[in-house]
Amino acid sequence: MSSMGIAILDQDKATVNILAELIADMGETPSPFIDKDKFLEAINPRSHSIAIICDDFVDVIEGTKQVYDAIEIVGIGTADGAESLKAGAAHYLKKPFRAEEIRRVLEVLLSSRQRKGAKDNGSFVVADPAMGRIVEIIRKVAPTQAPVLIQGESGTGKEVIARNIHALSKRRGGSYIGINLAAIPETLLESELFGYEKGAFTGAYANRIGRFEQADNGTILLDEVTEISQGLQAKLLRVLQERQIDRVGGKSPIKVDFRVISTTNRDIEEEVRSGRFRQDLYFRLNVIPIKVPPLRSRRDDILPMALHFIKKIALREDIQEKTLTREAKDALLNYPWPGNVRELENVIERSMILSEGNAISVEHIDQAPDSPMTVRTASSVGSTIHDMEKSLILQTLNSVDNNRTRAASLLGISIRTLRNKLNEYTGNGQFSDGDGAYPASETTAEPMET
Ligand SMILES: Nc1ncnc2c1ncn2[C@@H]1O[C@H](COP(=O)(O)OP(=O)(O)OP(=O)(O)O)[C@@H](O)[C@H]1O
Ligand SMILES: [Mg+2]
Repeated sequence: MSSMGIAILDQDKATVNILAELIADMGETPSPFIDKDKFLEAINPRSHSIAIICDDFVDVIEGTKQVYDAIEIVGIGTADGAESLKAGAAHYLKKPFRAEEIRRVLEVLLSSRQRKGAKDNGSFVVADPAMGRIVEIIRKVAPTQAPVLIQGESGTGKEVIARNIHALSKRRGGSYIGINLAAIPETLLESELFGYEKGAFTGAYANRIGRFEQADNGTILLDEVTEISQGLQAKLLRVLQERQIDRVGGKSPIKVDFRVISTTNRDIEEEVRSGRFRQDLYFRLNVIPIKVPPLRSRRDDILPMALHFIKKIALREDIQEKTLTREAKDALLNYPWPGNVRELENVIERSMILSEGNAISVEHIDQAPDSPMTVRTASSVGSTIHDMEKSLILQTLNSVDNNRTRAASLLGISIRTLRNKLNEYTGNGQFSDGDGAYPASETTAEPMET
């Protein structure tokens, strides 16, 4: 049997005891609770696969489902169950129910989990209501064939969302194929996407299938979709309309059954307005829009995510989990997170490794060499997020001798995003790719009082 336990929460001690006995009889491990707070403290997707929760605690049903989507919930109580099901319960049993009934429900849930495999690590943390709404959209659209366009700043979790949509779709048995359109040189992109046939060009010694064909019966993720040329936009539009691709040098089109998800961290509407991105292609891709808010506008996610990363890193490094001091929590909550969740993950990873006791204090967060948090302490109250972000970026660049690759990695953003931000500050495109030096006059544009 699985090593995962089944949690129980009910104010009625007799109910809890009976359920615990029944679960033990099934060869599973019960974790019984009559106290809501104790339950909330203990529950987590690494120890519990299922939670049976009485609908006196419908808020707990909702909260558990939101934070730990991987945990299946069985609601119990004397109502009709509508409220529990709406809050996220997979089943509802009306009291008094017979042992066989709950046993059957548990067996179904346990076996469907086994079919899903042990891959589900509950790594999609959602606590803020802003993300709760997005989770709702994901649930609704995942089973459909509709194209989804995910917009959001770098590091907000667009890729995590795309993977979730695939995993919850009818195509989950098929491949999930991602391609970052910003990372591949334009000249190679067409053959990468559509494949080529032997002899199509010098060096094409054999047929090669492209990403679209690899995604047959599955999902293709077009990452940073705004970054392609007009020519390729036209080709992509045709592929989406006709559901078939032309290999480079191919004689006839090939039918492909794919679902397309695309992402961008640019303002794609602006790209369309300015004529850089085809409107018809935008409409094709944007059937279901998902706008992921930056971490700074969903602060309720910060601490649950920090705890999640602490657990994840403790597990990976085989070290003790650590707690956060009150000051450390405040620092995390007040920081603007220009690199979003990716940056939070980096900060937690660093402080887990740098702190020696079993608590992470604000010094541990700050003492990381070149830590963006160090820079944060210099920002003054009353400055806008935009100003703080700019100062942070310029100071980080300064601290690494204008090495943009390193600055981007410290900030938890892509080099492309860094470049876009820098262009935004200066209003021109003078910066080349790679680690071009940042003009000295700019790095001191915003002197900071420390
Ligand atoms: N809701 C979440 N729960 C847990 N981890 C998350 C969540 N959102 C993001 N992450 C983690 O944050 C990191 C960045 O997420 P992701 O790669 O999906 O961002 P992105 O929006 O695609 O960024 P980019 O635009 O730079 O490609 C990943 O390590 C991911 O696992
Ligand atoms: Mg991404």
